[in-house]
Amino acid sequence: MTLIPAIPLADLAATAARGLHDLTGSVATVTAVAPGRVNLIGEHIDYCDGFVMPFAIDRYVVIAATPNGRREARIGSGLGESATINLGAPVERGEPKWANYVRGVIRGFQDRGFEVPGFDAWIVSSVPMGAGLSSSAALECATATLLEGLVGTQLSNRDRALLCQKAEHTFAGVPCGIMDQFASTFGQRDRLVLIDCRSGEPTLVPFTDPALTVIIANTNVHHELTDGGYAARRKNTEDGLAAIGKSSWREVSMADVESRWERLGDPVNRRGRHVVGEIARTVAAAKALEAGDIEALGPLMAASHDSLRDDFEVSCPELDTMVTIARDIGRHGGVIGARMTGGGFGGSTVTLCDSARAEEIATVLESRYHAATGIRPEIFASRPSAGAHRLDTMGPG
Ligand code: GLA
Repeated sequence: MTLIPAIPLADLAATAARGLHDLTGSVATVTAVAPGRVNLIGEHIDYCDGFVMPFAIDRYVVIAATPNGRREARIGSGLGESATINLGAPVERGEPKWANYVRGVIRGFQDRGFEVPGFDAWIVSSVPMGAGLSSSAALECATATLLEGLVGTQLSNRDRALLCQKAEHTFAGVPCGIMDQFASTFGQRDRLVLIDCRSGEPTLVPFTDPALTVIIANTNVHHELTDGGYAARRKNTEDGLAAIGKSSWREVSMADVESRWERLGDPVNRRGRHVVGEIARTVAAAKALEAGDIEALGPLMAASHDSLRDDFEVSCPELDTMVTIARDIGRHGGVIGARMTGGGFGGSTVTLCDSARAEEIATVLESRYHAATGIRPEIFASRPSAGAHRLDTMGPG
């Protein structure tokens, strides 16, 4: 079997509770969970007022915690060395780095006037890291959900997502859009989260057909959005919009970009072509889904990938290889569409396919990708799953 099954949420929660118990001898009183996401279409346009269509996957960050009566948070995890965070002052960035996502969210609560009580916590994650599947947004959203439990408040989904996005901006240094945190909080079982990034409105789109499967193939080429490529792309789009002289990419047509091609210059012109094209493709994909025309997604996903590769330049040879293998399997082999997903520069591809062929397709992706690159990918299927929430209080298993 090539498709790696999900670890049941209850098992993750039991592992987190056990970790907390081993670390401190305490029993968890609050357990929070938030999922990673995969994006079907609409890439690198959430920060351009575009539309994006991700869903929450059944891979999660789970945090088990309990108040400790001190002025500090003591946090252990399987993610790296433990972190101690002083809560007696506004929290700042620090070491270890992975804990900056937690620090940034704590700071968001402090900035809203909440007094965050001292707590001990243990974090576990089944979201592959650096795989373009929003492991960091999952950690942020799980932390926010945990803190809501500890301080006794409930943020709206939107507020929680915005707080977490700010943590990513200021504590991780990635000027991300809103897609990942929205997907991780608004996600629902059997629903895609179609986000209008201009209005900030998510629409839940049913995705229930058991005949359809979404395969996620992690190339195991790791991406680091903190290294500047992401920020540079975002800057290109801002420069392009300013040069075109419109207030939003939603007001820009392809003719606007093409008529200024020379003046915009390379690569800003190609970045603009991606943005305008990807917004149109995502709108078309949403309409096709609404009309039950799933086959229309294939060409749209293909065009999205090509544009990300050639115009936006955020793909990499390994992502291209994985997508090419899926395309070669083709519709007769059960593949409807395939593209890179997430920030890029490595990470994962998303392949929409017939459920009856999913296992067979995964086996071909795995073996041909390994033969071409020498790298073992990590391949699994996911259905749209629940967004951030609290689990029932539970003790060590
Ligand atoms: C990362 C960012 C998102 C989005 C995607 C690309 O995941 O966090 O906001 O921009 O890249 O679509």
